Order: sequence, then structure tokens, then C-alpha cells
Amino acid sequence: MVGNCSHRPNRQPGQAKFFLTGYLSITMLHLQSETDPAWVSAALAGVETILLDHAHCEKKAASTAMGLIFRYQDRYPLMRPLSELAREELEHFELMLDVLEARDIPFERMHPSPYAGRLMKAVRSEEPLRLLDTLIACAFIEARSCERMKLLSQALPDPELAALYKSLLASEARHNTTYIDLARGFFPEEDVRERIVAIGAREAAVILKGAPELRLHS
Ligand SMILES: [Fe+2]
Ligand SMILES: [Fe+2]
Repeated sequence: MVGNCSHRPNRQPGQAKFFLTGYLSITMLHLQSETDPAWVSAALAGVETILLDHAHCEKKAASTAMGLIFRYQDRYPLMRPLSELAREELEHFELMLDVLEARDIPFERMHPSPYAGRLMKAVRSEEPLRLLDTLIACAFIEARSCERMKLLSQALPDPELAALYKSLLASEARHNTTYIDLARGFFPEEDVRERIVAIGAREAAVILKGAPELRLHS
């Protein structure tokens, strides 16, 4: 069951409280699993691949937010938070292009991780449940990005890259909260919680399954 869908979100995303970076935990992000340390080792060994995939992920995150703005034009409360989020993701994309250029890593196409596609299979097809599930799934993608960026910030031996990832944590955690807050603005708390648990379980299973190639979400 869904509630009144016309009211504004309970809390404006920009006003969300953050508590980073040292004790940002998976619980705060609603994640049901921690990244396997083997992923961190693989990421350190393939850092150029991670940086290129990260650039693509930022571009995709902006595109996803823009897609929601177009799909849900009758949901005014989505417009500004998702516009701000898309803009911030494009800034991150440009930042990653700078990083790639500085390291002579060519920007080129790459196969995306199957992670997001597999996670999105949890989204129910009928509206407005589709909206609820999409917002929660997007929140989890942001959450996993945030968790992995934290791991990279702690493990990367290159101080510049470690600082880069540390600098991105707050934004990615805020994006997680933006999507959850939007869901809470449109749907009853009980429904949101139920989907956080259900989609969170799927997210944990998808990340455990891994991917054929090293990626930010492999
Ligand atoms: Fe980002
Ligand atoms: Fe993000």
C-alpha cells in the first residue's frame, strides 16, 4: 500500500546530517554485507581499470537521475533533489576525466558491471511500486559506491588517489540519503523499510555473485 504521493519529502536532502568519514558504517548505509577484502586487493592491482570504470559510473549516475526526472515529471518533489544530484555526478565525472588525463589513461568504452542490471531486476513493474523500488535500488548503488570508495581511500598507497576517494565519500553518502528521503516522502515508512530490507538482501546477493571483470561494483 502506498500513501499520499503528492506531498513533499519529509526532509530536504541537502539538510541531511552526515557523520563521515572515519566511522561511516555499512549499517548507516543499510548495506547487508561488507565487501570481501579480495576485491580491495584486486582493485589495488587494477587501479587503472577502477578509475576508468569509476568515470563511467559517475556518468551513469547522472544519467539515471536525469532519467527519473524525465520519467516522473508529475512528481515535482523529485525534480530539484535529482537535478542537484545529477549535476554533482557530472562534476564527479569531470573530476574523474581529470584524473584519467593526469595519468594518461585513455577514456574509452568498457563493459559495465552486471551489478546494477541485476539489482534493478528487484524493481517491480507496476507503478507506483516501480518508483519506490527504483529509488531504493538507486540508494543501494550509491551506498555500495560509498562503501567501496571508503575502502579505496584507506587502502590506496597513492596519497592523491586516497585523498580523492576520501573527498567523494560525503557526496556519495548524501546521494544514498537523497534517494531514501525521496522514497520516504512518497511512501509510508513501513513500505520503505520493507523494501530496504528486501532490496538490500538482493544487493548483498548480487555483490556476492561478483562480475566477470574487475569493476567498482564487481
Ligand atoms: Fe558521484
Ligand atoms: Fe553518487
